[in-house]
Parts: sequence; structure tokens; C-alpha cells
Amino acid sequence: MNNLTGFSLECSGYSVKQLVPEDAEVLQKLYEQCKDFAFLTYGEEFSSTAAREEFNTVPEGKTTQDSYLFGLFDSHNVLLGMIASLKHYRDQQTWWLGLIMLAPEHRNKGLGADFYRAFECWVSAQGVSQISLCAIKANELGLRFWKKMGFEVIRKTAPRQYGIKTHEVYVLSRTLNCS
Ligand SMILES: CC(C)(COP(=O)(O)OP(=O)(O)OC[C@H]1O[C@@H](n2cnc3c(N)ncnc32)[C@H](O)[C@@H]1OP(=O)(O)O)[C@@H](O)C(=O)NCCC(=O)NCCS
Repeated sequence: MNNLTGFSLECSGYSVKQLVPEDAEVLQKLYEQCKDFAFLTYGEEFSSTAAREEFNTVPEGKTTQDSYLFGLFDSHNVLLGMIASLKHYRDQQTWWLGLIMLAPEHRNKGLGADFYRAFECWVSAQGVSQISLCAIKANELGLRFWKKMGFEVIRKTAPRQYGIKTHEVYVLSRTLNCS
């Protein structure tokens, strides 16, 4: 992992910091606020260890050193949102965005777009030319958000199990042009 500590957002009053395993407790509180997303995706609440697992769980062939989690904080240092991402997955040119999530009361005000764009600029500065991610078909607002951010659906996967739900999943990708 490089010695990155964070990146900044254009709108003032917010900061982004890299999250480390010691932040699991504060991240878990954000997960607990996002029950709507948990029910939509898994049909149940996030587990009580979801935040800890976010730091420890990586796909085969990757290590926790490839995992980058960022927290979006307000001016009082309250965590409002997160991005979980994976370096060079599934190839050297691609950064994988595992999850972006904002506390419900902070959504739909442009903050998610600002957070994502700042992340994208940071990724671009790492010399990577593409960001890819998965979105379940049932998350219509999420899919709309990604299309607004310039992502295109590149394929649809066979239905997959998430918690007690089964979802069709889209893989989306975006070529970076941030200088
Ligand atoms: C997706 C998310 C990060 C977007 O951040 P945001 O700050 O709400 O989005 P912005 O205000 O920058 O942009 C608004 C757009 O996001 C989309 N959107 C996604 N989820 C939304 C939500 N819960 N409420 C409102 N808009 C949402 C809409 O398309 C909206 O576009 P519109 O104005 O044309 O309707 C945030 O809504 C969120 O945390 N949602 C729950 C988790 C989630 O779905 N993550 C994505 C997984 S694929």
C-alpha cells in the first residue's frame, strides 16, 4: 500500500480519508444506517461483522494490501459515506469499485457524485485507465447513478445469491479521462 492518507473533495466542509481496520467500529455504524440498501441487496440487515469483513475479505489472487477503503467525513469528523475498492482487479489496468454508500440523509444532494469523481481522479493518478463495478438489477437508483457518472453496462451475469436474495447483476465499466 502506498502512503496515501486521502484525497479532497471540491465542495468544502468534507474530507476523505483512507480507512484502516481500526475504523471498523465507526464503519459498522454507517452500515447500520444503510438498512435500506442491505434489505434491497441481501433481504436482511448487514451482519454485525460486515465492516470488519470489508477489511479482511478479498477475492482469490488479491491480498488486503490491494484493498483501499475511503471514508467521507463532515467537518465534525462524522463518517457520512464510504467507498471500498480493489487495486488492479480484474487486470492491471482496472480498479474495482466494490461499494459506494452514503448514509440515507446525505443522499441525492450531489455528494455521492462529488465523492465518486474525487475517487476517480485519485485512481487515475495511480496510472489505471478503467474503473469497473457490479450493480444488482434491482438497484435502479444505483444503476441510474452509475450511468450518470459515465459508466456503461458491459455484461450481465447469471443470477447470484446475495444473503437470502437472488439477483441479476450488471457489470459496468468506465474508461478514465481525468488528467
Ligand atoms: C448511490 C449513492 C452513493 C449516490 O450518491 P447520492 O449522493 O445519493 O447521488 P447524487 O446526489 O450525487 O446523484 C443523484 C443521483 O443518484 C441516484 N441515486 C442513487 N441512489 C439514490 C438514492 N437512494 N436517493 C436518491 N438518488 C439516488 C439517482 O439516479 C440520482 O439521479 P437523479 O437526480 O437523476 O434522480 C447513494 O445514493 C447511496 O449511498 N445509495 C445506497 C447505496 C447504493 O445503492 N450504492 C450503489 C451500489 S451499486
